[in-house]
Amino acid sequence: MLGNDKFKRYTVTAALPYTNGPVHIGHLAGVYIPADIYVRFLRSTGKDVIFVCGSDEHGVPITLKARKEGVDPQQVVDKYHKIIGDSFRDFGVSFNIYHRTSSPTHHETASGFFRTLYDKGVFDEEETEQYYDEKAGQFLADRYIVGTCPKCGNEEAYGDQCEKCGTSLSPTELINPHSTLSGAQPILKKTRNWFLPLDKMQPQIEAYIDSHKEWKPNVYGQCKSWLSGGLNPRAMTRDLDWGVKVPVEGADGKVLYVWFDAPIGYISGTKDLCNQQLGAEKKSEYYLNEELRPTESWEKYWYDKETKLVHFIGKDNIVFHCIIFPAMLMAHGQFTLADNVPANEFLNLEGDKISTSRNWAVWLHEYLHEFPGKQDVLRYVLTSTAPETKDNDFTWRDFQARNNNELVAIFGNFVNRVLVLSHKYFGGKVMMGSPFTETDQKVMEEMKLYPAKIAASIEQYRFREALSEFMNLARLGNKYLADEEPWKLIKTDEDRVKTVLNVGLQIAANLAVLAGPFLPFSAKKLADMLNMGTQTWDKAGSTDILSAGHQLNEAALLFEKIEDSLIEEQIKKLTDSKAANAQAAIKPEDAKPNVNFDQFASMDIRVGTILEAEKVAKTKKLLKLKIDTGLDQRTIVSGIAEYFEPEQIIGKQVSVLINLEPREIKGILSQGMILMAENSDGNLSFVAPPAAINNGSVIR
Ligand code: MF3
Ligand code: ZN
Repeated sequence: MLGNDKFKRYTVTAALPYTNGPVHIGHLAGVYIPADIYVRFLRSTGKDVIFVCGSDEHGVPITLKARKEGVDPQQVVDKYHKIIGDSFRDFGVSFNIYHRTSSPTHHETASGFFRTLYDKGVFDEEETEQYYDEKAGQFLADRYIVGTCPKCGNEEAYGDQCEKCGTSLSPTELINPHSTLSGAQPILKKTRNWFLPLDKMQPQIEAYIDSHKEWKPNVYGQCKSWLSGGLNPRAMTRDLDWGVKVPVEGADGKVLYVWFDAPIGYISGTKDLCNQQLGAEKKSEYYLNEELRPTESWEKYWYDKETKLVHFIGKDNIVFHCIIFPAMLMAHGQFTLADNVPANEFLNLEGDKISTSRNWAVWLHEYLHEFPGKQDVLRYVLTSTAPETKDNDFTWRDFQARNNNELVAIFGNFVNRVLVLSHKYFGGKVMMGSPFTETDQKVMEEMKLYPAKIAASIEQYRFREALSEFMNLARLGNKYLADEEPWKLIKTDEDRVKTVLNVGLQIAANLAVLAGPFLPFSAKKLADMLNMGTQTWDKAGSTDILSAGHQLNEAALLFEKIEDSLIEEQIKKLTDSKAANAQAAIKPEDAKPNVNFDQFASMDIRVGTILEAEKVAKTKKLLKLKIDTGLDQRTIVSGIAEYFEPEQIIGKQVSVLINLEPREIKGILSQGMILMAENSDGNLSFVAPPAAINNGSVIR
């Protein structure tokens, strides 16, 4: 693919993270590690490539965070730009530049881009009615409006979504809306905004997507489903004050829509990367890597059709990168469009969705602190379990197992044995003894196949597969040593040992080259031990990277076993944050109003026993139960199928509200209700007598 592809250079982007919090393992696994592997690989093959990212510093979540903390949005983004930038740098995510959208270059670029489209008459100008807070004197972004969800009655639903039932909403659907700025009831007020006419552009966009049937099925599928729903015009300006000012007369108090400005961040980042006049202060603010500065102008990386543009993103960004941004670029006219958008699914943590607000995450800056020097371990684990085709789960036990059983036991062990033996027998010199045997030849032939195999997987954005091929080469080396047993041979045939270690060292040298994209720190460490300098990808596969007589450096361990205690600490940290959340979720204001005694006494609650339980066909949540209530045996349909297996609960005693009006559920008459206690983490348990008691006993 690479060899004969039509591209001269590569522009690789990674989604600009929102700067309202630090980054976690989900970000790394979904976007930044795959992108970094891809880029490091391309660099190793000698390609002209730039890797651009930066902080997405506009948008409502940032202004909300600033309000909550009582500081300016600029202070919020300054703080997280540094934390995030440092984390990426320390994990070896090798951006050429980590830019930011609050920079002057970005404001100019985004504003100029908008102006170009405006002057070309691309936008539809439209007056709409938006909620306005008269007390605060400003229009309200969706997130600044809360009210009652029309679907589930949650009183704290946001203008764009109810987080309780997951329904996406528009602000005018909320019942009893009020502003989070002042508490006032907002009024509808006319405002003028500029819309990108995606409806009119649909044929062009459709043609573009259709020309990329090779995209990952999840990406292509999502695009097709947006298109089949018919695209709607989308407002590219908003009535807000934090963002890039709309560069048009009569647009006071308006900024560019954050999804208009943010992807232009890729372009503005490239501009500063290529700007040879950029001051030292800016270079450090932008984490600009001096060694990775291109010699060509920024335009080459964006206008030239021989530039391959690739966007690495998470699945929630697909529509913006595959439809809206390309539409903007098409409307502008000069730009090349993305050749691929390898979006990943999501990574979960210990079986639960990663969540910033619930502090259910492994934060990168904390990991770096708690596992110093172990960046590659996390890179390895996150690549092995990357959510490439479906959501995936990170667990600390798996992290430990992959470190101990794979990195230490296979890769580390092989490298260590071959180096230690070379030092022990030959003073750390590469030797060549008796001629290669047939086994040696076969091993070396097999080794030669790996660089192409790994390259092919990387080029197809299959990083898990690529990494597992890499480990297969380490396995090959390990097995070779175990079979040849140089530690035994040394007593009888030193000449043969020289050759065996030579083959082993060539494999180790190959591993050093091939590890580069995945495990950059260990690759460097290994190359240093082998005293071989940095070698490019085309060297991999050769059987003479280290020539006879070459002096090796001291051997050191590449990886260390991770003990149970470290893992238990991490698990405890998560359990603690779960407990803290559960406690915080119990709020006095959720208490219900009083009832009188008669109201309470009118409920007939009894102890009963579950006699039978089965799933209700074609439903996920429902179980059909047969209950002995002491008075009779009756059927009750209960929404607990996701929490209990039918066979587990047969014979259990439970509390039953027996005089609830019977009701038909999925064609089954349900006569009563089983009482459940719901933990704030959403888990259910039965409300049961602590020891067996007669069915029919009254609960009062
Ligand atoms: N900030 C967005 C997010 O975290 C991603 C922006 S990507 C860009 O979901 F292309 F717009 F920059
Ligand atoms: Zn709801």
